Amino acid sequence: MKEDVLHLRAPGNWINDPNGFIYYRGKYHLFYQYFPYAPVWGTMHWGHAVSEDLVHWRHLGVALFPTKAYDQNGVFSGSALEKDGRLYLYYSAVRYLETDGENIHTAYQDRYETSQAMVVSGDGFHFDNWKDKKKIIPVIADKEVGDRTHTRDPKVWKEGEYYYMALGSTYEEREGRVLFYRSKDGEEWEYVNQLRDKRFGKILECPDLFRVNGTYVFLGSPMYAKEDGLQYPHHAICGLAKFDEEVCGLHLHEEPGLVDYGRDLYAPQTNIDREGRRVMIAWMRMPKALAREGELVWNGMMCLPRVVDVADGQIYFRVHPEVDRYFGKEIPKERLRGDVLFRLRTSLKEGEGLDIGGYRLWVEDDSLNADRSKVFGSLSGYRLTGSTPKLGGRCELDIFVDGNLIEVFVNGGRYVLSHVVYGLGDKLEGPLEHVYVGG
Ligand code: FRU
Repeated sequence: MKEDVLHLRAPGNWINDPNGFIYYRGKYHLFYQYFPYAPVWGTMHWGHAVSEDLVHWRHLGVALFPTKAYDQNGVFSGSALEKDGRLYLYYSAVRYLETDGENIHTAYQDRYETSQAMVVSGDGFHFDNWKDKKKIIPVIADKEVGDRTHTRDPKVWKEGEYYYMALGSTYEEREGRVLFYRSKDGEEWEYVNQLRDKRFGKILECPDLFRVNGTYVFLGSPMYAKEDGLQYPHHAICGLAKFDEEVCGLHLHEEPGLVDYGRDLYAPQTNIDREGRRVMIAWMRMPKALAREGELVWNGMMCLPRVVDVADGQIYFRVHPEVDRYFGKEIPKERLRGDVLFRLRTSLKEGEGLDIGGYRLWVEDDSLNADRSKVFGSLSGYRLTGSTPKLGGRCELDIFVDGNLIEVFVNGGRYVLSHVVYGLGDKLEGPLEHVYVGG
C-alpha cells in the first residue's frame, strides 16, 4: 500500500483523530479514525499505518471495524499499550438507538450509547474483530458518574502496579469532565474519580495525562469551549497539572494554553518514542476534501510529530529530532521554486513579516500573527487568522511548509501555530535566513 511522508493523510476519504499511537516491537503504529466510503465523517473504523522513524508512514488498511452489537455504529477513538508482549487497544464502542434514515452513518438527534471496549493483538498486525474484542466498561447508567452517550476516548497508561484510564465526558452536555478508572490487569476496571471543569467546554474529548520531567501535563479537547460564531469552536488545550494517583485526583495549575494557536489542530494523543521522549500527534481538520491527480479524494491529515517538553515551568511542543534530520539539506532560497515541502528558519523583529506563497506571518504587539485569507479559497465561516500570546521580545521561527499545511514553531516550540491552506503560490518574501528541503 502507499506511503506518506511527514504528514499521515487519509489514504482516501475521511480521517480524524489519531488512535492507538505506540512504539511496539521496533515500529511506530498509528491508528486513526477512518470512514472509508466518502470524504465525510461516518461509521468509524480504525485505519492503520506503521513507521520506522515517525517520518515515513506505510498504510496498512483497516485494523478495527464494527462487528459487535455494542460497536455496530462505530469504533471510536482510543489508545494502545503493550502488555506481556501483546498489543492492547482500547476504544469507545458506539451503538445508535436511532439511526438517521437519510444517513445511516449518523445517529438521529444524537440518540446513541457508548461503552468502552478493548481488543488484543499478538503482533500488532493481526486483529480478530470477531473473537478478540471485549467490552470492559458498560454504558454508564449513573449520570453522576458519567454520560451514557458522550463518554469516550479511553487513554490508558501504566504507573506502578496499576493501569489508569482517562475518559472524556460531560455533565448534561453543559460541562466537560474527565473520568478516571483504575485496573490491576488492564481488563477489569473500577471507577475512581472525576474532575468537572468549566475549562473543559461542554463535552470533553480525548483526554491525555502523562509525566514529563517529573511534572504532569494534561491535554484535552473541549467541545464548544470558545464560541465566536465561526465553524468548529473546538480546540485542544494543554496545562501543567497535579495528579494524585492514590485517589485519581486531577488539578490543573493554571489557565490552560492551546496546543496549537492556529486552532485547526484537534484530538492530540501522546506516547513514548523509541528514545523515551513524549511525542504528540494530532488531527489537522480540513474544511474541504481534496482530489489530487491519480489519487482518491481525501480529507484530513496528522500534524508533524511534536516532542512535548516541560522547561522553566512551561510546556513546549518541539520539532521532533527525526523531522529535524529529514530536513537536513540547506539550499539557497532562489532554488526553492515549485517545491511543496520545505522548511524555513528565521527570526522576526517587531513590525517584520513573511509572505509564504500568500500565507502571511508578522510580529505585532509582541505576538506572532498569521493570516491565511489569500490561500484558503472561498470558504466562508472559518477562522482565517491566528496569533500567539506575547513572546517577550523574541520571535525565532521554524516553519514547515507542506502544500496544504503550514506549521510554525515559535521560540523552540514554546508556541506552535499551524494552518491548513489551499493553493499556496511560489512567492517567498521577508527576512528568510535558512531554507531546507527534505529527503
Ligand atoms: C474527536 C472525536 C472523539 C470520538 C471520535 C469519533 O474528534 O469526536 O471524541 O471518539 O472523534 O470519530
